Amino acid sequence: MEYQKPTINKVDFRLASKYGSPLKEQRIKGEIDGVPVKELVEKFGSPLFVFSQRELEEKYREYKTAFSSRYPNVQFWWSYKTNYLDAICKIFHKLGSKAEVVSEFEYQKARRLGVEGRDIIFNGPYKPKHILRQALQEGAMIHIDHFYEINDIEDVARELGLKEVGVAIRCNMNTGVYPQWSRFGFNIENGEAYEAVKRLYKGGILKLVGLHAHIGTFMLSSSAYRVEVEKLMRLKNWSENQFGVEVEYIDIGGGFASRNRLKGVYQPPEVIVPSPDEYAEAVTGAIYDNYQGKLPKLYLETGRALVDEAGYLLTSVFATKRLPDGKKGYVVDAGVNLLYTAFWYNFELFLDKRYEGLNEPSQVNGPLCMNIDVIAENVMLPPLERGTIMTIWPVGAYNYPQSMQFIQYRPRVVLIDTNGTPHLSREADDLNYVVEKEVVPDYLK
Ligand SMILES: Cc1ncc(COP(=O)(O)O)c(C=O)c1O
Repeated sequence: MEYQKPTINKVDFRLASKYGSPLKEQRIKGEIDGVPVKELVEKFGSPLFVFSQRELEEKYREYKTAFSSRYPNVQFWWSYKTNYLDAICKIFHKLGSKAEVVSEFEYQKARRLGVEGRDIIFNGPYKPKHILRQALQEGAMIHIDHFYEINDIEDVARELGLKEVGVAIRCNMNTGVYPQWSRFGFNIENGEAYEAVKRLYKGGILKLVGLHAHIGTFMLSSSAYRVEVEKLMRLKNWSENQFGVEVEYIDIGGGFASRNRLKGVYQPPEVIVPSPDEYAEAVTGAIYDNYQGKLPKLYLETGRALVDEAGYLLTSVFATKRLPDGKKGYVVDAGVNLLYTAFWYNFELFLDKRYEGLNEPSQVNGPLCMNIDVIAENVMLPPLERGTIMTIWPVGAYNYPQSMQFIQYRPRVVLIDTNGTPHLSREADDLNYVVEKEVVPDYLK
């Protein structure tokens, strides 16, 4: 190892806790599902997104079992936006999840993967008529977001000569968790959702078959789901009594938390994140307490909780420096262009092996020439050398789909199958990929 100037750490008793001093502790992860991280980087390069199929399947089963063991008719719909990498979607579809999409692009991606229209839930506030037309023709289930959309669907249905179209409406509500996601769908408390149901039936074409809400993401309160379901069930019962119909399903959306560390939340995920059983108990208990007639089907659009912990980002130390405030600085090859959620979460950082020396407060910065490119602002690390591989975790939710080519190319993505074999799932970007769609106007040529 190259010479590193010894450092003196100011004695700071706040750094110690009842579990000991962070000066000696090193968090190490040398492999993912049995594959050494060194081998992954040598074979596929650095930085590198890595997904574990084993972890995906485990999480899916955990959630499926929690709900199915309490309720007879449960269907999961994979939330494409949470991670729409083909390989990830394929795994969830193979496990039995259908598709939940929120845009024309996501709709087309699901269809391209071979998902039938009838196995797609189409959410979102922006569904232009041409994509509504395709979705209606292909039998997708549309969750209506606003009154304009009711008009649009009726127009398209008339154009297509459809006499009756089953739809669901999206509702928003106060569940006691703030900020409230009130931008989407029809509000329950002010009666808008009830008005929307009346409006559906007034038109004579649309029929209410489902009620939907998605109350937020990384929801740390299972009781919020109880409130959500109670409010949806009340609307369901009212609609059935009013219009003599059967509302076949309620869709409670997603939002269950993963074992990530939300910034500003003091307690660790092990303490504050509800278990799948706690979420399931709240949801199914509220259905049992409030149903009339037949039990509705229960739909879930769980994204984050199923994929976050299955995702890793490997990055390598490129340089070290001493920052003016005395803190140790590291330049690594993965930046916030790959980790959009770094602004909200303090990820775990693991080292590939044990390093000599004491931990000291360090800052880990990415390769972008931008001040915001900070992966970890204040983390205790021993002296690391060029080439040290760090594993950033959990990063499986929302990072890959929101990653962008900015200053640096986006890296490869690898999936490790259940036998421990890594497979390339997405090639890295290159110059051709980046400039492919650019056009230089003639007058500049
Ligand atoms: C309508 C809808 N369903 C499901 C999800 C998935 O949420 P999560 O990844 O938090 O489970 C989202 C995320 O924003 C959403 O908007």
